[in-house]
Amino acid sequence: MKLYFASGNDHKRKEMSRLLGGYDLVLPKDEGIEFDPEETGSDYISNAVIKAEALYSIVHAPVLADDSGLSVDALGGKPGVHTARYGEDEAGRKLSAEEKYMLLLKNMKGITDRKAHFVTALCLILSDDRRYIIQETCDGSIALSPSGTAGFGYDPVFFIDEAGMIAAELPEGEKDRYSHRGRAARLMKLLLDKEMER
Ligand code: IMP
Repeated sequence: MKLYFASGNDHKRKEMSRLLGGYDLVLPKDEGIEFDPEETGSDYISNAVIKAEALYSIVHAPVLADDSGLSVDALGGKPGVHTARYGEDEAGRKLSAEEKYMLLLKNMKGITDRKAHFVTALCLILSDDRRYIIQETCDGSIALSPSGTAGFGYDPVFFIDEAGMIAAELPEGEKDRYSHRGRAARLMKLLLDKEMER
């Protein structure tokens, strides 16, 4: 089954294809479609829906969109929907992944409640009247210092409760078992597989 994936990111496509197994994910850019909707939502679900609806209105075919981020309890849920742009200045200068997680550690200096949650929202639109939303979470805490070399983004400072390890210390692929995206994608696969039987 061909499924449009509302992203411009090849790495994300590869990961989502692996997690969903058996679905041909097509990025808008593969077909020369210009796609860069403004993510104006105040939560992950709103942004996933914005992306899915924007692409569906162009392709009128099954579309999957995702939105993820890191919510830290003691920071009132921040960086949240702004996780990817954390620390960006007015001029829009982007920080590297390492600069971002080091900034997070700096902003949490002296804070003892370090509970945090990675969240992923997925929105699937199959047709005008068949739409599904899944949101999943990976609970953990922000470490006091970085550790590990696997993964990406904030993985070196995110301790996964269930795994008892920092995300970047987990061998390749094993993170999927615990991760927000792994959990959400497994549920989405059940849903898609069921749809295929219709
Ligand atoms: P996106 O919406 O999937 O692009 O995620 C937003 C940002 O959240 C990314 O740029 C990453 O910095 C961060 N992020 C999301 N998922 C993860 C993860 O599994 N590990 C580390 N960082 C993540």
